[in-house]
Amino acid sequence: MARRCGRATSRFTGEIHKHAGKIATPVVLLFVCLLSPSVAQAGLYTASDQVILLSPGNVESVLINSTAAIFAEFYASWCGHCIAFSPVYRNLARDIKEWKPAVDLAAIDCAAEENRKFCTAIGIRAYPTIKFFHAYSKADSKGQAFKASSHDVRVLRHRIIDKLENHVEPWPPACPPLEPTSQAEIDSFFETNNVQYLALIFEDTKSYIGREVTLDLLQFENVTVRRVLKTEDGLVTKLGVTEFPSCYLYSPGGNFSRLRVNIEARTFYSYALQRLPGVTRSGKPPPVTTDVSKDKQEPWKPFNRSRVYMADLESTLHYSLRVELAAHTVIKGEALTSLKKYISVLAKYFPGRPVVMNLLKSLNSQLQNQTGNEISYEAVREILNNTAQSPDTALPEGERWVGCQGSQPHLRRYPCGMWTLFHVLTVQAKNTGGTDPQEVLSAMRNYVHSFFGCRACAEHFEIMARESMVEVKTLSIAVLWLWSRHNRVNNRLAGDLSEDPNFPKVQWPSPEMCPACHSVKDNGEHRWSQEQVFPFLMSYFSSSSILTDYLEDESQILAEQREKHASQQQALEAQKRVERKAREALDSMTHPLPSQSTVQDEEEEEEEEEEEGPQDEEDEGNEGAATDEMEGKTLETTPWAKPEMEVGRGRRQAHRKPSIVGLRMRELQEDIVDLDSFVNQHYRAKALQVAASSRVKQRTLQRKEERDPGPAFGLGMEGLQPVEADFELDAGQQRKRLQKRELTGQHFDEEVELSHGGRLMSALSIGFSKVDISLCVILYFLSSMCLLAMCLFFKKRLRLRRGKLALP
Ligand SMILES: Cc1cc2nc3c(=O)[nH]c(=O)nc-3n(C[C@H](O)[C@H](O)[C@H](O)COP(=O)(O)OP(=O)(O)OC[C@H]3O[C@@H](n4cnc5c(N)ncnc54)[C@H](O)[C@@H]3O)c2cc1C
Ligand SMILES: *[C@@H]1O[C@H](CO)[C@@H](O)[C@H](O)[C@H]1NC(C)=O
Ligand SMILES: *[C@@H]1O[C@H](CO)[C@@H](O)[C@H](O)[C@H]1NC(C)=O
Ligand SMILES: *[C@@H]1O[C@H](CO)[C@@H](O)[C@H](O)[C@H]1NC(C)=O
Repeated sequence: MARRCGRATSRFTGEIHKHAGKIATPVVLLFVCLLSPSVAQAGLYTASDQVILLSPGNVESVLINSTAAIFAEFYASWCGHCIAFSPVYRNLARDIKEWKPAVDLAAIDCAAEENRKFCTAIGIRAYPTIKFFHAYSKADSKGQAFKASSHDVRVLRHRIIDKLENHVEPWPPACPPLEPTSQAEIDSFFETNNVQYLALIFEDTKSYIGREVTLDLLQFENVTVRRVLKTEDGLVTKLGVTEFPSCYLYSPGGNFSRLRVNIEARTFYSYALQRLPGVTRSGKPPPVTTDVSKDKQEPWKPFNRSRVYMADLESTLHYSLRVELAAHTVIKGEALTSLKKYISVLAKYFPGRPVVMNLLKSLNSQLQNQTGNEISYEAVREILNNTAQSPDTALPEGERWVGCQGSQPHLRRYPCGMWTLFHVLTVQAKNTGGTDPQEVLSAMRNYVHSFFGCRACAEHFEIMARESMVEVKTLSIAVLWLWSRHNRVNNRLAGDLSEDPNFPKVQWPSPEMCPACHSVKDNGEHRWSQEQVFPFLMSYFSSSSILTDYLEDESQILAEQREKHASQQQALEAQKRVERKAREALDSMTHPLPSQSTVQDEEEEEEEEEEEGPQDEEDEGNEGAATDEMEGKTLETTPWAKPEMEVGRGRRQAHRKPSIVGLRMRELQEDIVDLDSFVNQHYRAKALQVAASSRVKQRTLQRKEERDPGPAFGLGMEGLQPVEADFELDAGQQRKRLQKRELTGQHFDEEVELSHGGRLMSALSIGFSKVDISLCVILYFLSSMCLLAMCLFFKKRLRLRRGKLALP
């Protein structure tokens, strides 16, 4: 599998045509360019089929001197018969994937230019042709002919077994003996073999079940499978076997017991044997008992394996919206469409508790109402964290996996939650009378395509979706489609490194979970009873059967949110304080009076700093409330700035500057007037007083202009503030703040420059002294340097963080 993944082809170009129309022509052209080479090399099989894709680069290493026997299909991608045969071959590969170490399937597209030489060398003239290469084939081997006239997987499988049985020496080392066993061999079996179970399959002479199960179990340890023919009278009478086929377990103590299965058929034997206690997949550590959790920080939470837990669904939302999405600083184009669809489906069908639903609905309405062609993640985060403080609205923070717990921290969890979430959503859509059968599936497809962190997974999923999602015509079929695709993924991943040994990938639901879901066809092949699977899925994933164990208490979530909000407000206050000081410093500079008054100002400032405590808090309280109100409105009416103001938008949203700065400034202006009049009384003649008051008016006007349409950096000192404000935050907050700034950092320079210019102009118009101006310039220079340093630092940090975001 790992090998397969490594070879993942470039076929997937991730096109979802629907949105192409919106993309500008050059992008479309680029698209087409990306697409065409992959179309040229597109064969009938992809990396997610269990077929080795042969090419000149790997043909030698795969076919020559291989330890497994190989069946290779030579086809031409344009040939109708080949196209018709490809699903059969694919199913065959899926069916016998456990046999891989002994026998494997490969395919090569002889229509592809680069492959022609090899196809000719092998002597291929007609398509499709299947050739058999026995293990340890020589370099000049042309393979043996293999007649594949049948389109029946079962028949092909039997032919493969025939070929294996007639395999010349040397026998593929991984292939177990396939001939029937005898009484004598069984009697001495445990003397020479150190395994826990010997499984005996009693069958007719013509039956292949024994050999198939033997091969199905070849990758499992502690169990050996042998077949006993009906004609082996001694054993049959000794055990009183009357049913053929049937399976008996023989253990070292000499005990015989019948293996209990729902139906006496290959799939059921294999499934039951692979799950016997003590039986493990080769190369995998034996499963740890569930309570022995090595994960120290997180104690294992006991749970019912046949239930869905809301804790997993909420954790999935948290991870998806707060972690996975956060990797996209700006979301636009196709990704934005994906996000909107995803959130819309969640708001419609997620069976969450009221607080969560409130949040999803608010997020949805704000997303759908925004008309711009891009949004910053920062804006989404504001809503997720409910900074507007709408009542009873929250998305619990953090991950608490329950049904998706893994025996190790890197196993299961988020991808498990993602599957569960979408199964639940398809079932909810059906239950609550959705109208568009593909709504949920295409939301999932787009989300996975645009955001799912496991890119290989996304490619595989896209291939499946492209293949057959159009066939989904009803809401019920949508439920079944996702179930069957998920099983296909399970089949591919069984035994993979990412498989949790405690949660082996099975075709789901297992016979224990839903006996009625499984049946067999007349020829003994396994068959899903979809008329049973469907009601099972509907009840398993229905909102009424979701368990709420281990959920964080609602009041606690809201309290935490309030706390977080309060501390963020505090941080904002700190920021404002710095802002104010800076402004005062500037005002003192713009002050028309000689050094004396400047000194006094400074003294006052110091005093204020010392006694700022209580007075300031009061201040903050009032202002906080006012700010909240305004924010609420801002968020409600225009959650995202208009598209033409794109550049500054993310940032303004982030700091919600307009309202706060506006408020603060009005107050301060009054202060200034007071101070001016005070100074005037003491130091100024009446004539000067008039001049001063006219200046104040002038300044007020200017401020208004700046505040209204512009980026609203009242004092042009914006960039400087967070640095100092950070010192007053605790470490955690500080980090969040920093991230926040890092997310919006790209706009800094421009804005600082802008306000810089404006400030200078107004300063000049008032009549600065040269010293004042140079002081200003120095201050700006310092702030710019600070910013630059921070930008560099966070860029580095962002890179680190991106690295960590990769899925477990
Ligand atoms: C879209 C998508 C694509 C992925 N592609 C890949 C990939 O290409 N390669 C890779 O290594 N990993 C892939 N993964 C991850 C992989 O599928 C598993 O999610 C992961 O290995 C965790 O497995 P798990 O044991 O928790 O069970 P999961 O497969 O995650 O299943 C979660 C739960 O859903 C239930 N379930 C299982 N099967 C079904 C079914 N057929 N129908 C309904 N419910 C079911 C079970 O209760 C199970 O515990 C993908 C995940 C997603 C969401
Ligand atoms: C084939 O493999 C065997 C052992 O695995 C080795 O001795 C031999 O040299 C190999 N031959 C070729 C042609 O690679
Ligand atoms: C085989 O089973 C025995 C008994 O349960 C166990 O001790 C042993 O570890 C198992 N061997 C392997 C390879 O799993
Ligand atoms: C787990 O859930 C199933 C299905 O609801 C139920 O039948 C079973 O009794 C539960 N098991 C435990 C241990 O609670």
